[in-house]
Amino acid sequence: MQTTEITMTWIDEVVRKMSNKMDWVSDKSQDKIPYTTLNGIHDDRSSSNPSGSDADGICWWTNGFWGGMLWQMYHATGESKYREYAERTENKLDEAFEQFYGLHHDVGFMWLPTSVANYKLTGNLQSRKRALLAAQLLAGRYNPVGEFIRAWNDLPEEDTRGWAIIDCMFNIPLLYWASEETGDPRFAQIATKHADTVMNSFVRPDGSVHHIVEFDPFHGGVVQTYGGQGYADGSSWTRGQTWGLYGFMMSYNHTGKVEYLYTAKRIAHYFMASIPEDGIVPVDFRQPMEPAYQDATAAAIAACGLIEIARAVDEGEKDMYLRTAIRLLKTLDEQSTDWSHDCDCFLQNGSAAYHHLQHHQSIIYGDYYFMEAILKLKDQDLYFW
Ligand code: GLY
Repeated sequence: MQTTEITMTWIDEVVRKMSNKMDWVSDKSQDKIPYTTLNGIHDDRSSSNPSGSDADGICWWTNGFWGGMLWQMYHATGESKYREYAERTENKLDEAFEQFYGLHHDVGFMWLPTSVANYKLTGNLQSRKRALLAAQLLAGRYNPVGEFIRAWNDLPEEDTRGWAIIDCMFNIPLLYWASEETGDPRFAQIATKHADTVMNSFVRPDGSVHHIVEFDPFHGGVVQTYGGQGYADGSSWTRGQTWGLYGFMMSYNHTGKVEYLYTAKRIAHYFMASIPEDGIVPVDFRQPMEPAYQDATAAAIAACGLIEIARAVDEGEKDMYLRTAIRLLKTLDEQSTDWSHDCDCFLQNGSAAYHHLQHHQSIIYGDYYFMEAILKLKDQDLYFW
């Protein structure tokens, strides 16, 4: 990536701080699959089951990100301990296949950064098998009448048979990968059908996106929309915007379909125009002024997506995307990173959802996407999406 000398110095400094931190944190957390921190210490979703539900334990949707960070570090440094720890994480995830009922559409988030990353880097055939199994599970969630992939299993008081969510744009790359790997077009056909449905039913005219759209699972067609993890129906949950922004770039990278690039750009333009002057990304662009909840994870994912757009467009267009990505990352580095030994995560100020009680916490995908974005700026990222 073309950047100024001052920016290059800053990127190198962040890489140095990130490498130092990963060196000791990876030793300390090598037997865990963390989601967040409790009193600064990584929790562990690999065996504990905090709420008694499979989906919160080994099947928890974020369980691929720690492995993804370890593979990114192995790719960038060649240090064998990262590979060893990442493989340990991946082995633990086999228990999720065993549990099965706790699995959902987020198998892409779980096995792209682990098994697909491993297979790409080392050719491990066990990893290939795991990723193909996960792809079969994802393909099995496709509703051919509504042309969407079902997101979640039934919630306690909610019939979710017709629910699709914007986040799934990060899961369908597993289907593109499966078609590329096996030569069987069915996986990619399902992925493009789903992406087309999202393009037509989730993306609003102004470039913002819904979090949840409910389709009639028997006859197809939109039933209603929901605000999901954002402020309210019709609002604009920022992490959802970034799942769409970067997600459509992933579909473009796999298919070359320009409509996906244009859609990613449309969402990006909406996102860039909505960033507040101080550069701090809120949980929802349409939330009330107070409380000023922020979500650093959304800023990190947006930066990744914007850099990916900069990689795809003509020379004259790149700058706007790259400059915004760097501005977001610099703001995160200045205001939301902790490089000390006080916390096992380095990115702070993440918020899982607007209506959750807890805000401004460390969340593993914040660390993951901040790392991916910084490595992208050095052209040292491992792309497995
Ligand atoms: N994919 C769920 C979330 O972004 O919180």
